[in-house]
Parts: sequence; C-alpha cells; structure tokens
Amino acid sequence: MEKEIKKVKSIKGTLRVPSDKSISHRAIIIPSLADGISTVKNFLRAGDTLTTLNVYRKLGIKIEDENQILRVHGKGLKGLTEPDDILDMGNSGTTTRLTMGVLAGQDLFAVMTGDDSLRKRPMGRVIKPLSQMNAILYGRNNNSLLPVAIKGNRLKGIKFFNEKASAQVKSALLLAGLNAEGETIVEEPVKSRDHTEKMLLSMGADIKIEENNIYKVSIKSGKSLSPIEIDVPADPSSAAFFAAAAVIVPGSELTLKDVLINPTRDGFFRKLKEMGADIEYTNIREKAGEQVADIIVRYSPDLKGIEIKKEDIASMVDEIPVLAIVATQAEGETVITGAEELRVKESDRIKAVVENFKRLGLQIEELPDGMIIHGKQKIKGGIVDSYKDHRIAMAFSILGLISEEGIKIKDADCAYISYPTFYEDLQSVIQK
Ligand code: S3P
Repeated sequence: MEKEIKKVKSIKGTLRVPSDKSISHRAIIIPSLADGISTVKNFLRAGDTLTTLNVYRKLGIKIEDENQILRVHGKGLKGLTEPDDILDMGNSGTTTRLTMGVLAGQDLFAVMTGDDSLRKRPMGRVIKPLSQMNAILYGRNNNSLLPVAIKGNRLKGIKFFNEKASAQVKSALLLAGLNAEGETIVEEPVKSRDHTEKMLLSMGADIKIEENNIYKVSIKSGKSLSPIEIDVPADPSSAAFFAAAAVIVPGSELTLKDVLINPTRDGFFRKLKEMGADIEYTNIREKAGEQVADIIVRYSPDLKGIEIKKEDIASMVDEIPVLAIVATQAEGETVITGAEELRVKESDRIKAVVENFKRLGLQIEELPDGMIIHGKQKIKGGIVDSYKDHRIAMAFSILGLISEEGIKIKDADCAYISYPTFYEDLQSVIQK
C-alpha cells in the first residue's frame, strides 16, 4: 500500500499511542516461565507482539484473551513443550533472540525462521554466547542467520560483556541463565533497556543489578518465578513520531498520555529538549514498576542542531530516523555517530534515511556509523521507500506533514509491525 501525507495546518489534541512493544513481548515470554497465571492489561496488539503470542501458544502455553486482558498460564522454568512445526518469527528480532535464550535450556527441539528482513539479521550475537553456555544451536551461514535449529541442553553460566549494548542479547542470556548451572553475568558499557531484569526481579528471580562505571546484571538459577500483574504503558518509540510532528508543524500542541519514561528509553525526548524543543513531562507516576508521564509537546521554531554520540544511542536506538527528520528543521548541523547498529535493524536504517533524503532532494551525508543532517531545509516532497521497515514508513510520514507537495511512502502498511493504527491516529490530530 502506498500512502500520501500532505502538508497540514497544525497538529492538535490528545493521544494515547499503543502500548510498549518491548514490555509487551516480555509480558508473554517471562510469565510463560512462571508457576501460575499472570495477567497482562494493555498488551500491544501489533504484528511483532502477536508473533510472540502465537509462538508461545505453539510452545504449549495457554494464553486466554478476554475483555482486553491476557491471562498467561505459566508452566515453570522448564515447562515449554516441543512445537510440532517450524516457528515463524515473522519480522520480530526481539521474539527471535529472546526465545533462543528461553529454548536453549528446555528439553525440546525447535526450528525458527522469519521473513525476508529477519532472515538477513545477525543471530550470531546470541548464538555465540549461548553456545559458550553449552547451548546447542545451528544456523545458516556458519551459525549466524535464520533458520536456526535448537536442541535444548544443560547450560552453564558465563560472564559476558555486551559490547553492542543490545537489550535483546542481554535478555537472551539472562533468560538462559534461569536454567543454567551457576551464575550468568552480563556487563554493559552503556545500559540498554532494562525491562527484562526489572520483570525478573519483581517475579522473584535470584537476580542482582549493580550500577557503577559499568552496568552489571547477575542471575542465578534455582528460584522459580511467581506470576505477576502487568499493565503496559504507552510506547515512547511510537510517541516519538507524534512528538516530532508537534515540534516541527507550526502552531501545534499535543498531549501524549501514559508514556513510558524509563531513562533507558526516553533518550529521544531528552535530545529533543537539548535541541530546544518545548517538551514537558506532567503527571509523572509509577505504573506496574515503570515510570510514566503525560508528555506535552508544542511547536518549537528555534531548534538547534546537536551531536548524538555512541553513549546516547542505546536509549534512543529506534528513534534515530525520526530524529533525522526533526534535524532538517533545526539551525545548523546535527551529527549522529556511533550508531552502526542501525545498519542491522529491520532495514539498514542509515541507508534508508540517506537514500530517502536524496530522493527528496535533501542535504545529508552518510557516515559508516551515522549521518550528518543539514538544518533549515525546505521540504518540497516526492516519493520515498519504507524498505518495508515500520519506523522508516512512520518517520517519513511525519516529514510529509511539512512538505509543500506531499510525500508518498511506498509499502506504508508495514507500520502495523509496531503501530497498526498509526495513519488513523495521525488523521485524528491533524488540523487541515
Ligand atoms: C529491543 C531492543 C533493541 C531495539 C528493538 C527492541 C528489545 O534492539 O532496537 O526494537 O525489546 O529488547 P537491540 O537489542 O538489537 O539493540
């Protein structure tokens, strides 16, 4: 499906964007390993998280879905059953990598595959350390690509340095650690999103978190997990598109309700502030162990270009494409470095942004690990490609709102992966 987004007068209103994708995945995966029934309110119903729901049903977990509440019937740390067919992980890297860690210590055999994008994404980053824990995993291209076959085995704990600050890698190892002999330790140079360790802690796992120069999580096996009640807040990565829209479209004011503001996730909002954007966190409160806020965002005509460096990336890794969109309206250059991980997301997001800018006649320089975006650019419009990547489709939709002749986005329907109602929600806040 192609979508055209045209220039609007302003963006106004109040929106509760869909629930957090990272927490929704974990709200199925981790309760599956508990002793008893966990409940999940406000589960995200989108392409990726429905993949997780289906996969865990195929692994023998009963998941009831009534009155907008999921009931996940956990079967204990080693209770998953052998699936009778290949598991289809769709487009979801999170489902795939976390599930590798879960299955490595179960008494079963399983094969996973995924769509064209997922079959190109690096799996060696999880397979290698899991193999050091004695897991048995085989994959295409010298154990680095899907399809991957797993034969459950007796695991042992290891100490691992998570160089790329990947939350998926950290989570896979911690979940494997639940069934590994001894202690499993993950250290990170920059703290990546911490939803897995927070959830494990609140479910009674034998887990320790230390925050000094280096962030360190250690888990010991042997303790069973208690069921929990989860209420998933709105996803900051989805809210980011609307915040960007309000900041760059003249005369806008938007309230984004119930947004997760965990510091490992709200880097985009902090960087927008640094650019000079008018952003306010109000009604800050705690919800099921996470901080949430209602975020008020207003049109900000005096944005300035900034630098985004390696240590900034983890807390805004999925928001870089939409930050590049905002940067076109700032005074001066915005320089993004240390973001090489963007090249192995649902698409190569550095290339996707750079090529789409060129299609629109905009100034940008590609770097191996980032990009330099020139400010105060006039957006004429044209046709861009989403590369079937949800975040690229949504980012360029936002740019369409300030384009003179409109922006057409190819394969725009891929937004359903994280945000099925994106275009309807956008319409609902547009003032023509
Ligand atoms: C995620 C971690 C990040 C992020 C992805 C979701 C998670 O990936 O890009 O959208 O839920 O753990 P990496 O672990 O590859 O950085």
